[in-house]
Amino acid sequence: MSTTRPLNVGLIGLGTVGSQVAERMLSWGPQLSRRAGVELCLKRVLVRDLTKRRSIEVAADLLTTDPSAILDDRSIEVVIEVAGGDEPMRSYIERAILAGKHVITANKVVMAKHGPELLDQAAGKNVDVYFEAAVGGGIPLISTFRMDLQANKIERVSAVINGTTNYVLGRMASGSTMTDAIREAQEAGYAEADPTDDIGGFDAAYKLAILGSIAYEIKVRPDEIYREGIEGVEPVDFRYARELGFAIKLIAHTQRHPGRVEARVHPAMIPLDHPLARVEGAENAVFVEGDLVGQVLLVGQGAGGRPTASAVVGDLIDLARSIRRGVQSRPSFSFDDRIGVIPIGEVKTRAYYRIRVDDRAGVLAAIGQVFAEEGVSISSFIQKDAWSHDQTAELVVTTHPSLDASLQRARERMAQLEPVRTVSSFLRVF
Ligand code: NAP
Ligand code: HSE
Repeated sequence: MSTTRPLNVGLIGLGTVGSQVAERMLSWGPQLSRRAGVELCLKRVLVRDLTKRRSIEVAADLLTTDPSAILDDRSIEVVIEVAGGDEPMRSYIERAILAGKHVITANKVVMAKHGPELLDQAAGKNVDVYFEAAVGGGIPLISTFRMDLQANKIERVSAVINGTTNYVLGRMASGSTMTDAIREAQEAGYAEADPTDDIGGFDAAYKLAILGSIAYEIKVRPDEIYREGIEGVEPVDFRYARELGFAIKLIAHTQRHPGRVEARVHPAMIPLDHPLARVEGAENAVFVEGDLVGQVLLVGQGAGGRPTASAVVGDLIDLARSIRRGVQSRPSFSFDDRIGVIPIGEVKTRAYYRIRVDDRAGVLAAIGQVFAEEGVSISSFIQKDAWSHDQTAELVVTTHPSLDASLQRARERMAQLEPVRTVSSFLRVF
């Protein structure tokens, strides 16, 4: 190990992720320092509540509720932000950068919304911003794009990238209610502070914005990404999906098209033999296609304190090595402003509809006519359940690939048909 002075680190956040980062730094210090080539010293830890009981013991004099104790301490060279949310964390990260500190963050909200600007500021101050933990928990994704796949033109990325929804969908497929499954995900530490961020697909959209921006070197803004959450998925959809040979997953997908990219997050039916269909629990999987490398699948724990701390502390070791050697080992980012995201209506996809109808003659013809007029070709059409008490039946229709706008219009027009009680479910088929 070198004999240089220790590298002082300020930690913002001591929750699910922060406590695991602190634990690894405090209990495995010599090993980390040997790998980093410099002693790593946890100097201050910013929290909201000094009296809170913690899962890890941290010396009382390390804890503070004053952000200046980290951001204005000139001896602190690296700030690790694992608190979460947009403000005040965006401002704290900016303050750290402007003060000449390097930053490591797990904050996908800040990186998705403000990443390109913060990275520009960091380049101007000759400091680095690492954010491996912001996407895919412990799976090495950012470094894979930034380093190992640099030689490629990335064509598409499809991913199961939110551990909470994957856990919840898996539990629902085995008969749990969505409410129970969300509570379990919260107890396991997978869910965001507000689990609506997970269930509504916001978290996945933030992560896709980050991945898309890095993969294509463009600015993919989260509000440009088409987003639907899993709220509308019902237990019966899992039964139909299985019968049709599919699993249901929240999919984040981006694909290159001439001059534009496709970027969308929504629940989807995935063929059971697709690698993304086999991703279980809080696991994440990212399927990348590059023009040189072909297909690459990265799988691992996408949520939870320990896997996420693995990414954060890995960033710290890499950064510490660069700082002490005085070289930046990673290429900097540049973003092309001219390429935008395709509106969802112009994307081609397949769909699954579950429709409750009056069980009488002529219904199929009426539904078939709507699809025909919208130019949507039907792939399968089944009638499973019928209820004699109200003379209704359930139809399940899947389509061949069509423009998403046509699929949506067909959904709206069918809902208006007199014998249709409700279009209970609409899922895209991958
Ligand atoms: P968490 O358990 O809620 O912990 C947040 C921590 O930040 C707490 O210690 C809290 O202090 C502190 N904090 C929050 N706001 C603060 C403020 N304004 N000033 C000072 N301290 C503040 O969150 P988490 O699950 O560890 O997640 C942290 C970050 O990692 C988020 O960006 C999240 O999206 C990301 N992430 C989480 C996971 C995961 O599986 N949990 C995985 C990947 C990435 P108190 O303890 O005093 O309340
Ligand atoms: N809430 C996130 C998830 C944590 O469930 O995937 C990891 O980013």
